[in-house]
Amino acid sequence: MSLSARFFAAIYDRATAASEQAGLSAHRAALLREARGRVLEIGGGTGANLQFYSEDLHDLVITEPEDPMARRLARKVTGTSLPAHIVRAAAEHLPFADASFDYAVSTLVLCTVADPARAIAEIHRILKQRGRLLFIEHVRADDPRLARWQDRLERPWRWFGQGCRCNRETVEYLERGGFSIVAIERRELPKAPPIVRPLVVGIAERDGR
Ligand SMILES: C[S@@+](CC[C@H](N)C(=O)[O-])C[C@H]1O[C@@H](n2cnc3c(N)ncnc32)[C@H](O)[C@@H]1O
Repeated sequence: MSLSARFFAAIYDRATAASEQAGLSAHRAALLREARGRVLEIGGGTGANLQFYSEDLHDLVITEPEDPMARRLARKVTGTSLPAHIVRAAAEHLPFADASFDYAVSTLVLCTVADPARAIAEIHRILKQRGRLLFIEHVRADDPRLARWQDRLERPWRWFGQGCRCNRETVEYLERGGFSIVAIERRELPKAPPIVRPLVVGIAERDGR
């Protein structure tokens, strides 16, 4: 287990606290109340979404590939009454049957997965037909000037953010990967450096493919 992964997990909640208080938690709360039935969250991290899920869920499976994050997540899951359990897996290789979930959730994860096309193909595979992905992701800027800065700073940011790509075109990956965007709000990640501020909060529906 790398030292940087341990450090990232240890500081994550403190590093994101200002963003959470300034609006990120409100986005999580508004989006996640839609999740029902059998739900898969990818890259659950330290469990920032747990407090926002409805108690009506049948089953909440949270995947997390990194040990230091998974340990923190396990402690938080123990403190809830949600029907939640953790599975150690990367989004690119989800150990679940085809068409077995009603909803998937990705918050600040599709920026970090090593192979976004593969991860999205896996989310598409495990969702039932018309199943939905609820997402909050920071993305490549529409403003060309900011996008150029994202390109310039992509490598150092990736190092700093444990693999996070500040210039990823996540919505385009979703559309190419067999999802229709049924709702999207373009916002800013509050209290964050400019290169990771452009934020999308939305719902993508799995098509019939
Ligand atoms: C920026 S954190 C976001 C954590 C949490 N989802 C949140 O909203 O606060 C990114 C998370 O993605 C996880 N991750 C990294 N690579 C991944 C992969 N290939 N598949 C799934 N999760 C991954 C990291 O371990 C980390 O927990």
